[in-house]
Amino acid sequence: MTESFEARVREAVRLLRAAGRVAAFTGAGISTESGISDFRSPGGVWDRHRIVTYQEFIGSAEARREYWVMKRELHRELLRAEPNRAHTALAELEKAGWLDCLITQNIDGLHQRGGVPPEVVIEIHGTNLEAECLGCGLRVPIEQIQERLDGGEAELHCSECGGMVKPATVMFGQSMPEEKMRRAYDCAAGCDLLFMIGSSLQVEPAASIPRVARKAGASLIFVNRTETPWDHIASIRFSEPAGEVMGRIAGVLEP
Ligand code: APR
Repeated sequence: MTESFEARVREAVRLLRAAGRVAAFTGAGISTESGISDFRSPGGVWDRHRIVTYQEFIGSAEARREYWVMKRELHRELLRAEPNRAHTALAELEKAGWLDCLITQNIDGLHQRGGVPPEVVIEIHGTNLEAECLGCGLRVPIEQIQERLDGGEAELHCSECGGMVKPATVMFGQSMPEEKMRRAYDCAAGCDLLFMIGSSLQVEPAASIPRVARKAGASLIFVNRTETPWDHIASIRFSEPAGEVMGRIAGVLEP
């Protein structure tokens, strides 16, 4: 029988107080309460769209058009989204000295907008807040990209050099950013406690982050509505909504 919610909150706070260094690892599930779809819940992004790989994007105008249709839909959610209680709770923990590094798979920028300093956030899948030209490297903000998509452009070429434009995210088939992955592994291997919040832990190498922390001796607190393949390595599991859980934990800790 799982312990009551309050008992698990008390245990999480005890682990937090006892920890020297604290890390967080987040996925799309931390942003669903902000109105951004996650990927693998029923009705999620991969229920509605096919995964377009980096190789397909580069090689096929049809694939690029398909990809931008998905992105235009995601941009609508993203441009309306506000940080939710889980995002602000993590910022409160960081401000109080209870969070040293935050690794996120998310591309929505809500951790930074929720108050976690940008230098604390490691965006291992890049960011959707900008797009980049694969020819000259020119970066374009999402607002301009969305305007051009809403204006009927089916695929985007650089206004400077005519090169191919793609979101500044890591696509399937693209290599992971080395420097950010090094920082992420250092963050996980160096902590005594890691919160895993809102990820199905299906996509490697990101999904290995909680295991790296566990292997280095950290305790893990999983906050995820549904089961993950790695629940057995967690010290505490919450299946309640991330906003409720993280808001309660941050609320118990005096600043
Ligand atoms: N509170 C807690 N958990 C939630 C909530 C919530 N409010 N909403 C959703 N979840 C959980 C879901 O149950 C699911 O297990 O969050 C998890 C989200 O999992 P995914 O949709 O697979 O998202 P994520 O793990 O971030 O995906 C990893 O896959 O497609 C790629 O690049 C994409 O970064 C993404 C990666």
